[in-house]
Amino acid sequence: MTVFQPHLRGRLAPHRLSTVTTTIPGRLRSHPDPRRHPLHEAIDVFAIALNRWLDRFAWARSLHRAHLARTEYRRVSLPVAADRAALHGLRIAFLTDLHAGAYLHEPELQELFDRVMAQEPDLICFGGDLVNTRAEEIELFDRPLRSLRAPLGVYAVAGNHDHRWTPDIGSWQDYLERRGVQVLANQGVRIERGDASLWLAGVDDLTDGQPDVRRALWGRAKSEPTLVLAHQPDHFPELAQHGVDLVLSGHTHGGQIKAFGWAPIAHTRHGYLDGGFACPHGGRSRLHVSRGVGVTILPFRMGARPEVTIVEVEAKPQR
Ligand SMILES: [Fe+2]
Repeated sequence: MTVFQPHLRGRLAPHRLSTVTTTIPGRLRSHPDPRRHPLHEAIDVFAIALNRWLDRFAWARSLHRAHLARTEYRRVSLPVAADRAALHGLRIAFLTDLHAGAYLHEPELQELFDRVMAQEPDLICFGGDLVNTRAEEIELFDRPLRSLRAPLGVYAVAGNHDHRWTPDIGSWQDYLERRGVQVLANQGVRIERGDASLWLAGVDDLTDGQPDVRRALWGRAKSEPTLVLAHQPDHFPELAQHGVDLVLSGHTHGGQIKAFGWAPIAHTRHGYLDGGFACPHGGRSRLHVSRGVGVTILPFRMGARPEVTIVEVEAKPQR
């Protein structure tokens, strides 16, 4: 796909913008953990029942809307070498953990997408957990997605909720792709601007999908800046071994409920709860964990504001 938009604001004109798919289109396949403890299953049943019951109350949705109104548009820099100056100023909006169906329905999605579009992103990425606990929740995206457009496209990876609660994850993928969202199922895409390019890759979910990092990175050029979407931040140590530049994750909700810096439910074994983290192997790779947009089970957050991440590419001399 090649898109040339001479009317774009000055910071991107007059370069030619294009995305080139250079790997075989991937197909999502779920892989539920057969060793999952029955206690976890029982907790899930209780949590889902509580979530669905609370969602019927107007006060619960109002409370969640009040949180959404405080969404932080958090800036994250993606430094690239000075000789890739054509990428400078590229802006990527990263939205994750929407959990549609949990206090967040079509009107809230539409409002959120309108605000994201006001950020004028060149590229939009979803980091997974688009649905909460029902396959049909993906249909809440139908109308709002019509207004979500970016010159370099809209991409997504699946999260554990998408896998676990969609009996046929292929239908989830088809639904999004029919609406212009390309699902990166262990797949990479070359994003080109002028004479420079960026490799955008997406890996499948760590616990409920079938991730294949090598496949997602296959085809990238040597020293090409690489941005990876991976729903769970605990994927970072493996991804960093491949020398990627930046990994964008969610999954933790920043703890969702955090008191005195402590989150009882963190969903990370490595302490990747919220914000930026350096490479565990001492390399140049970095991780950014977004607090995400939505909630699950309870309609509130504490000490963990909703977040939409805005990644800005900065071309500068590398040390
Ligand atoms: Fe998740």
